[in-house]
Amino acid sequence: MEIANFGVEEWLNVYETQATLDIAQSTIASMTMSELMALSPDNGTQFYQDLAQQKMNYGAIEGSEAFKQAVSELYQTVNSNQVLQTNGATGANLLALYALVKPGDHVISMFPTYQQLYEIPISIGATVSYWQLDEANNWVPDIAELKKLIRPETKLICLNNANNPTGTVISTELMQAIVEVARTVGAYVLVDEVYLPLGEGQQTTSIADLYELGIATNSLSKTYSVPGIRVGWLVANETLTDLFRKYRDYTMICAGVFSDQLAVYVLQHRKQVLARNRALVQRNLKIFKAWVAQEPLVDVVYPESVSTSFIHFKEIEDDEAFCKYLLKEYGVLLVPGKRFEIPGHARLGYCAPEATLKKGLAELSKALRTY
Ligand SMILES: Cc1ncc(COP(=O)(O)O)c(C=O)c1O
Repeated sequence: MEIANFGVEEWLNVYETQATLDIAQSTIASMTMSELMALSPDNGTQFYQDLAQQKMNYGAIEGSEAFKQAVSELYQTVNSNQVLQTNGATGANLLALYALVKPGDHVISMFPTYQQLYEIPISIGATVSYWQLDEANNWVPDIAELKKLIRPETKLICLNNANNPTGTVISTELMQAIVEVARTVGAYVLVDEVYLPLGEGQQTTSIADLYELGIATNSLSKTYSVPGIRVGWLVANETLTDLFRKYRDYTMICAGVFSDQLAVYVLQHRKQVLARNRALVQRNLKIFKAWVAQEPLVDVVYPESVSTSFIHFKEIEDDEAFCKYLLKEYGVLLVPGKRFEIPGHARLGYCAPEATLKKGLAELSKALRTY
C-alpha cells in the first residue's frame, strides 16, 4: 500500500528540534506533570500512590471504564459502550478509515485539512473528492459545493472541526446541513474534533450527537494540552463501534495503563484545564491580532478561538524557502503553507507560551523585511 509523504509531520520531524521560538504547533501550550498535579487539592499525592500500586500489565483493553465513562460525558447522547480508546486522534482516524474505506469507494474530504483524512482513503484505493475551503469565504465550507460533490455511492465524508490549519469552525447549523446531505445517500461522516473552539460562550456540536452514522474522533493532544500521553478516542453508534473493535484488535491492544490513568485524571480535571486554556487562547489571540494589525506584510482570516491560524504572506510566494530562512536566521518555526498544499501561507500556532509568541512574532516581522 503506497502512501504520500505527510507534509506537516515530515516538516515538524525535521525542524521542530532546531527551533528556539516554536510558533508552529497547534497544541495549546503543553502542560508539565507538576502543573497537572497542581490541579488537585492533594497536589497529586493520591495519583502517584495509585500509580505506584498499578501493575504494569495491559490494563483494560478498550480503555478503563472510568476513561470511557468520562469521555461519554463529553457528549449528549453517548454511552460508555460507544467509546474506544486509541493512540491519539491519529489512531482514531486510522481505525475508522481502515475499517470503513474499501478500494473503489467514493470519499469526500474537506481541503485543506489534516492530511491523514484524505491520504489514507487514497492509499486504500478510494476515489477522493475535495471539498475546497475558500479563503475569500473565510475558509468556511460552502454547502452548495458539497451538494455538487456528493454521489449516490459516496461512502464517507471526512471533516475536521475546528479546522487545522485555518482555525475556522463548522457551526451547528452548517453541520446539520451537512448531515442532511449525507443522509440522502447514507454516507458516514467522520469528524476529527481535536480542536475545541474556546471563545466565551462559543459552542459546537459533536457529530456523535447529530448523526446516527457520525463518527467523532478526538484526543487529549490539543485542547487538553497533553499530547505526550498519546491518548485519543473514537465515538460512534454501537454497530460501528463493534466493527471498529474488530479492526482495533489488529492495530493496537491498549494505550497503556499509565496513559489511561493520566487521561482519566485530565478528564476529571477538565474544567480547570479548559479554564486555563480558554484564558491562554484569549490572551494570545489578542497579542496575535495586535501583531497582524500592525504588520502590513501579512493578513489572515482570524481563527475562531481555535489554537491554530493560517497567515497569508502578501509578498512571499515560496513560503517554504522563507520558513527555512526564518528558522535558520531567527530561530522561529512556522509550518509552510506548501505542507498543506496551500502556498503563500503558513500555519502559525499562537497558543505557544506567551513570551515565545511575542518574541517569535517580533522576529518574524524582522525576517519579513530582511528576506
Ligand atoms: C486535525 C488533527 N487531528 C489529529 C492530530 C493528531 O492528534 P493526536 O496527537 O491526538 O494523534 C492533529 C495534529 O496536528 C490534527 O491537527
